[in-house]
Amino acid sequence: MTRQAPESAPEFDYVVVDIGHEHLPAVVSEAMAIYVAAMGYQPGVGKQRAAHVLRHSEFAEFRFRAAINGHGRLIGFAYGYTSVPGQWWHDLVRKAVGRSGTSWLEHAFELSELHVSPASQGQGTGEQILRSLAADLPHRTMVLSTPEGDNRAWRLYRRLGFVDLARNHLFPGDHRPFGVLGAELPLAGRD
Ligand SMILES: CC(C)(COP(=O)(O)OP(=O)(O)OC[C@H]1O[C@@H](n2cnc3c(N)ncnc32)[C@H](O)[C@@H]1OP(=O)(O)O)[C@@H](O)C(=O)NCCC(=O)NCCS
Repeated sequence: MTRQAPESAPEFDYVVVDIGHEHLPAVVSEAMAIYVAAMGYQPGVGKQRAAHVLRHSEFAEFRFRAAINGHGRLIGFAYGYTSVPGQWWHDLVRKAVGRSGTSWLEHAFELSELHVSPASQGQGTGEQILRSLAADLPHRTMVLSTPEGDNRAWRLYRRLGFVDLARNHLFPGDHRPFGVLGAELPLAGRD
């Protein structure tokens, strides 16, 4: 990926681009800085998570989309892949949703991360990135987990048609309760 950093005023707010497997190492640190800032985590968490992202990039149908502003800087990103048995998240969620929910996990795309840098939140960027990520996916559903709360992430997911698969679910190693959500593809609205 070629990125230009104009010194004058940017000519556009941002564009959403696909980051191929081969370009991921070049952007993963910048993406993890956004992840850390958006989630309010300690900086060290970003390094650990970068290794996960690179590992996830080996999974089937891995897709990574980034919003890049007119100065050539990343302002948000999302990625995911096909969710299959044997993956940490998939196996835990399969238990959490129970027998009635397992159909959501058949031919599902797991939205692993979606984050927009705090300074750029609340302007529709997250929705643009998510719609770009979801566009033309071959999967039947998109599934995700997000910390419980009354916040922008929940408003976005509800707006795009995500429904509850499990609530207040506890993942090992995290004290926060999570909602597990799913939506049929294509996403609701203008996809
Ligand atoms: C969740 C998150 C990705 C959503 O992205 P976002 O860009 O902030 O939000 P959205 O794309 O949903 O935009 C929504 C807001 O922009 C507004 N908006 C939409 N289109 C717009 C436009 N063209 N111009 C201006 N504002 C617009 C909407 O009115 C909406 O406002 P509201 O949420 O106050 O009601 C982002 O807020 C974030 O990174 N949060 C912290 C980390 C997080 O929770 N990640 C998800 C964990 S799974």
